[in-house]
Amino acid sequence: MTDVTHGVLHTLFHSDQGGHEQVVLCQDRASGLKAVIAIHSTALGPALGGTRFYPYATEEEAVADALNLARGMSYKNAMAGLDHGGGKAVIIGDPDLIKSEELLLAYGRFVASLGGRYVTACDVGTYVADMDVVARECRWTTGRSPENGGAGDSSVLTAFGVYQGMRASAQHLWGDPSLRGRKVGIAGVGKVGHHLVEHLRAEGAEVLITDVREEAVGRILAAHPEGVTAVADTATLIRAEGLDIYAPCALGGALNDDTVPALTAKVVCGAANNQLAHPGVEKDIADRGILYAPDYVVNAGGVIQVADELHGFDFDRCKAKAAKIYDTTLAIFARAKTDGIPPAAAADRIAEQRMHEAASARRTR
Ligand SMILES: NC(=O)c1ccc[n+]([C@@H]2O[C@H](COP(=O)([O-])OP(=O)(O)OC[C@H]3O[C@@H](n4cnc5c(N)ncnc54)[C@H](O)[C@@H]3O)[C@@H](O)[C@H]2O)c1
Repeated sequence: MTDVTHGVLHTLFHSDQGGHEQVVLCQDRASGLKAVIAIHSTALGPALGGTRFYPYATEEEAVADALNLARGMSYKNAMAGLDHGGGKAVIIGDPDLIKSEELLLAYGRFVASLGGRYVTACDVGTYVADMDVVARECRWTTGRSPENGGAGDSSVLTAFGVYQGMRASAQHLWGDPSLRGRKVGIAGVGKVGHHLVEHLRAEGAEVLITDVREEAVGRILAAHPEGVTAVADTATLIRAEGLDIYAPCALGGALNDDTVPALTAKVVCGAANNQLAHPGVEKDIADRGILYAPDYVVNAGGVIQVADELHGFDFDRCKAKAAKIYDTTLAIFARAKTDGIPPAAAADRIAEQRMHEAASARRTR
């Protein structure tokens, strides 16, 4: 057994990070599909989480990623108040090279074989159009296009949820949820980031933006001739004078040993997944007196949308659910204060409590 395989099995069966209910390895030789479906928990309901299509260096790495992502979804879904557990799937390979209708249909049959224990959606490397194909073989598919009964792009409600997280942070720190006159820096103005700019400008915040894609920046500056300033890069943005809020909206690992000491903002609240580069960063942030709104709590608008789609998507109902991110974020800050722990740890505790109570209730039924 390789060290990596041993590590994966240790995570799965023995570590505090594991305890997954089920892991399924799938292969369809005809289409070249190799996939891993990981179900971390169904305590709150069917596991829900997207399908990542990625050229992993090794198959062990793919399994480890599926385990890790599935666990993260349990916490995200629990904190979003959804009746869903956590699961995630990964398809191994370069989507540009191997993605095909045949492969996605084969994948759909594997998801369907779980009989609803796992509900799939989009993630890195999979799109709404792909879910339309998967859905032809599997009714436990969400994140489809409106033409196929789906809700389409989830970034609108993701941005709305992040905005609610910022308002809650402002309320907690400054005693007023208004962002009028606050200086907010957004790193990454793609699908979520550009909707976030709209909310912030509508409320009268001053916005700094940066993105590695010039056209993304140009599109925003053209739409907002006033109140938005572009800066050269993320390193410049996080050091900007007078920054109130930093919103990482690009890639994971934004909060690390290099960036945290340099932050000028008093609040970090953004859409990017897995912002904390390693365990312990949340404490470094708290030690600097910076308020961190946990990523998986404030970026839950997207999963709230795909969960809603399963019941026939209703935008207003969904927006009302995403608006609750405001109360959830405030509750996390309060718990962090009471327990004397960083907000990220407080969020984990609240999510674990909800899952534990649901599992106990199930055992006594
Ligand atoms: N779309 C959703 O509904 C959703 C839901 C939950 C979480 N998220 C997370 O939010 C983040 C943004 O998602 P998105 O859908 O807007 O993705 P996107 O790809 O549309 O936007 C990301 C943007 O970040 C930019 N970027 C990449 N590297 C950068 C860097 N080093 N510095 C500055 N900009 C950089 C890209 O050019 C792009 O414009 C991702 O981490 C994603 O996982 C998205």
